[in-house]
Amino acid sequence: MDKLRIAFFDAKDYDRQSFTESNKDAGYDITFFETRLTSDTVKLAEGHDVVCVFVNDDINRDVIDQLERLGVKLVALRCAGYNNVDVEYAYGKVHVVRVPAYSPYAVAEHAMALLLTSIRRIHKAYIRTKDFNFSLNGLTGFDLHGKTVGVIGTGKIGRIFIDICRGFGMNIIAYDKFPAADSGIEYVDLDELWEKSDIISFHCPLTEENRHMVNRDTIAKMKKGVVLINTSRGALIDSEALLEGIKQRKIGAACLDVYEEESNVFFHDYSGHIVNDDTLARLISMPNVIVTSHQAFLTEEALKNIADTTLANIREFFISDTCPNEVCYKCANLANCKQTHEKKCF
Ligand code: NAI
Repeated sequence: MDKLRIAFFDAKDYDRQSFTESNKDAGYDITFFETRLTSDTVKLAEGHDVVCVFVNDDINRDVIDQLERLGVKLVALRCAGYNNVDVEYAYGKVHVVRVPAYSPYAVAEHAMALLLTSIRRIHKAYIRTKDFNFSLNGLTGFDLHGKTVGVIGTGKIGRIFIDICRGFGMNIIAYDKFPAADSGIEYVDLDELWEKSDIISFHCPLTEENRHMVNRDTIAKMKKGVVLINTSRGALIDSEALLEGIKQRKIGAACLDVYEEESNVFFHDYSGHIVNDDTLARLISMPNVIVTSHQAFLTEEALKNIADTTLANIREFFISDTCPNEVCYKCANLANCKQTHEKKCF
């Protein structure tokens, strides 16, 4: 077989480093493109067998049709979430693989880092002492010990976050569409979670069903002063409703590693530019909002695992003819799922 050709979109320096290192053995022919994969840039994939993409590449119907026309066989997501791929439309046209887990610790630890930074005002103290301002006014925080955290999504990341919270002596309640029977986690329905939680952390995938699960109605059910942490996907939260909740002093703080319109701005340096997204600008201007730009995954361990698993997915697809990490909308129907036999979905 000829050397496999991979068109790598939205490439950053850290991607080049980790993939170049992991590719030393495989020796695939990787072309790194800085641009995202969209309908306008998909032509760059011509002559490649695989497109390797990340969270803000847009694999919509048009892109899928064009990939099929160009003879691209595989979309290799180098992330866990796949809400940016029209998986149903891709069925029968182009296969999709992902990296289901690379370091759930990275994301869970980042969620706790955001929470501590926010409630202990570390971000403000850092700037003050840099300026030799040693005043403590306005830096009063609160103990996490004894507080109730509501965790939405108790998969790999959610459970690690729960373990971290237990270490802080917090009370844990959780909601999951598919609760884990033997986990020892106290599951409640969403309304109870909104009502009882001092802190709410999101660790579920984004689906059509839970888009804007934080909205005006659900914010109204939350405790006054609630802290929201979103390291999952931006569109779980209606940003306008969040802004309103902050202005009404209902939301105590928001820690956002993701934002619903992030694909237009995240991962780029816009310092010195006028940012056109007024909602994001207003959120960032709030003293009780911390934004990181989809950074929760970014640890050395995670980058190595992402590169190793992505290249292993590609090797398995083309060489071993198996595809354990394939994403396919039919996999929800386990009776018909070929993936349980580690075969390709079509
Ligand atoms: P996972 O698949 O192990 O767990 C997801 C959990 O959510 C499962 O227990 C599932 O039953 C539950 N779930 C599914 N639909 C739900 C719904 N509608 N409501 C409530 N719960 C629901 O996934 P993992 O690895 O824990 O990742 C969770 C999410 O974290 C990913 O979907 C992704 O969006 C996000 N993520 C963010 C990263 C970042 O850098 N900020 C990096 C990696 C993942």
